[in-house]
Amino acid sequence: MDNHSDAFVFFGATGDLAYKKIFPALQAMLKRGSLNVPVIGVAKAGWNLDQFKARALDSLEKHGGADPEAFRKLSSLLRYVDGDYGDPATFEALGRELQDSRRPAHYLAIPPATFESVVENLKHCGCMTNARMIVEKPFGRDLASARHLNKVLLRKFDEKDVFRIDHYLGKRPVNNLVVFRFANTFMESFWNRNYVESVQITMAEDFGVQGRGAFYDQTGTIRDVIQNHLFQVLCNLAMEPPVRTDSESVRDEKAKVLKAIPALNEKDVIRGQFLGYREEKGVAPDSKTETFAALKLKVNSWRWQGVPFYIRAGKQLPLTTTEIVCRLRKPPAIFPAEGLTSNYLRMRISPDVAIAMGMTVMVGGETRIITEPVEMVASAQPTAEHMDAYEKVLSDALAGDATLFAREDYVEEAWRIVDPVLGKGTPLHFYEPQTWGPPAVEQLSPPGGWHNPLTADNPAKSARAA
Ligand code: BG6
Repeated sequence: MDNHSDAFVFFGATGDLAYKKIFPALQAMLKRGSLNVPVIGVAKAGWNLDQFKARALDSLEKHGGADPEAFRKLSSLLRYVDGDYGDPATFEALGRELQDSRRPAHYLAIPPATFESVVENLKHCGCMTNARMIVEKPFGRDLASARHLNKVLLRKFDEKDVFRIDHYLGKRPVNNLVVFRFANTFMESFWNRNYVESVQITMAEDFGVQGRGAFYDQTGTIRDVIQNHLFQVLCNLAMEPPVRTDSESVRDEKAKVLKAIPALNEKDVIRGQFLGYREEKGVAPDSKTETFAALKLKVNSWRWQGVPFYIRAGKQLPLTTTEIVCRLRKPPAIFPAEGLTSNYLRMRISPDVAIAMGMTVMVGGETRIITEPVEMVASAQPTAEHMDAYEKVLSDALAGDATLFAREDYVEEAWRIVDPVLGKGTPLHFYEPQTWGPPAVEQLSPPGGWHNPLTADNPAKSARAA
């Protein structure tokens, strides 16, 4: 049997994620030729197929534009089943839509609390044999719930058929971290504890919770972007070269990175909340949820022991970017030490993509030895995406390639690390919107201070900031 899924079932089809991301991704897949199977939306909205198609068109028009030819094709592939996820009749109706399918892919773009009911009820549609499960994040809300979800899924499906989505893994610049490390000989010469002093990963967003207050207030920054997206970035930076490039060899190396990280304790975490957050719709007036977090992690592997890894993420920061700075140890001070900065490697993932090396040179036009930092930009592209991350991960899942998905052991290890600091017991500090988080974040400062990324139109400034 062809390994490609022959139907795409899409739970949560009338929801926000579908509207903003999934329909545009499906249109892009059609245009690229990676989608040619029925797309069956399932939701409880009291809609019919025409309303569902109208929603798809509206989604495309608002998010990137509808291509008439691609939409005509998409429209011919769309089906719709309306019903409750707890009602066997919904799944019987789904079974009728899937009667010709031999390898359906079920995509759960629904709240985790409803996963179990869907997984249990799939038996009513007779569509579990050879099926794939694509599961949207968040995968649980702590270690215990993630273990439970894994049990629920793995009771009915093989791990090889479960695709836990982290759309960061669909981003080309995130994957380029691995390619850049292992396709360049010089990288290996300094990419270890002997030369690297610290690594910082910053994910800054200059907007707030954008109407997602009710979701966000139950989630917070650590669950929303650190335990998943930024741990994936960290793994790409810290993993050993895989012995082969098949999905399991790659995922083994990533899981090993997390295994080397001890669970966090309170003193390694600063949580912040922007002023004004409690007035957002859906947010509790006395909310203790963080909209900013900074963490200091140890990676106790042979390569990284003793090198601190910092992760910082937040909403309402001065700009939107994800950037990594890896600072090297300073050389012995033969020349005047004043102004001698550390070499660094800067890798920006979004919104633009850059790889740059910070160096020290002699100031021109001076006879005395005065040094200044300069930055050598190895690669810079104005926009991050050639292919949307959702297009990539959904295409891979339908094709059965699990490389860019979080495996059972990986997600559980990731939750193990953050589990002790998820409770609201960790102190919460307030910060002004459009600043780099609460002043208390300085208590966790990396050697040489936090690197605050600057805008793409002034990369030279970033060099000085590093
Ligand atoms: C999502 C989070 O997973 O990732 C959002 O829920 C966050 O809060 C988003 O804004 C960031 O991803 P991207 O691809 O838009 O940078």
